[in-house]
Amino acid sequence: MAMGVDGFMVSTIVLSYLATTCYGVSFSSLPKTLLVTASPSSGQVLKAGEDKITVSWSYNNTFPAGTDSPYKKVTVKLCYAPVSQVDRAWRKTVDNLEKDKTCQFKIVAKPYNPSNNTFTWTVERSIPSATYFVRAYAFNSADEQVGFGQTTNAKKDTNLFQVQAITGRHVSLDIAAICFSGFSVVSLFGFFVMEKRKAKAYQQK
Ligand SMILES: *[C@@H]1O[C@H](CO)[C@@H](O)[C@H](O)[C@H]1NC(C)=O
Ligand SMILES: *[C@@H]1O[C@H](CO)[C@@H](O)[C@H](O)[C@H]1NC(C)=O
Repeated sequence: MAMGVDGFMVSTIVLSYLATTCYGVSFSSLPKTLLVTASPSSGQVLKAGEDKITVSWSYNNTFPAGTDSPYKKVTVKLCYAPVSQVDRAWRKTVDNLEKDKTCQFKIVAKPYNPSNNTFTWTVERSIPSATYFVRAYAFNSADEQVGFGQTTNAKKDTNLFQVQAITGRHVSLDIAAICFSGFSVVSLFGFFVMEKRKAKAYQQK
């Protein structure tokens, strides 16, 4: 009997553990307690692998003092704007943050500090071409999101910027290279023809 109770307790503990880890925090439950700004201007196009983003974040002091007392860490992420999520299930926004695919690229994670946070990040070469914004999540000691802030509005349609991927640029470089080598082949061929004609003309003399 005692074993049965223990077993029940163990499975209850396991189940509640699974419940907290499998059922993530819902985004809509998070207060927007962080003020986040990023250097790109609205509509700016950044080149992956070259251009930089400087992000600043702080606690919005309009919220009561102490609201941020459980905050331990802040993670800043690069997130897809809705315009770049259309027809792409792998970028879909889901309210359950365990399943959400909006913010796939980590910019930085740092211990929480209510003010004076800035970080400059070079847009990684692996970032795909898309329209983005920046979001920061505050985490508690259980590693759960407890607050957020972002550079865009709630509808995620203002103050967005773009990243131009490195592959897109390579394609145009490759095309330029192909055109150029095509041009070289043609001119080389032209050169041979001219040389042959000269040689023929010489022989005929
Ligand atoms: C700070 O939070 C308050 C309360 O939610 C909000 O009204 C205000 O707009 C926020 N400040 C900024 C700069 O976003
Ligand atoms: C902000 O950080 C910089 C460098 O880390 C420091 O020099 C400055 O005094 C800090 N300002 C405040 C208000 O904490």
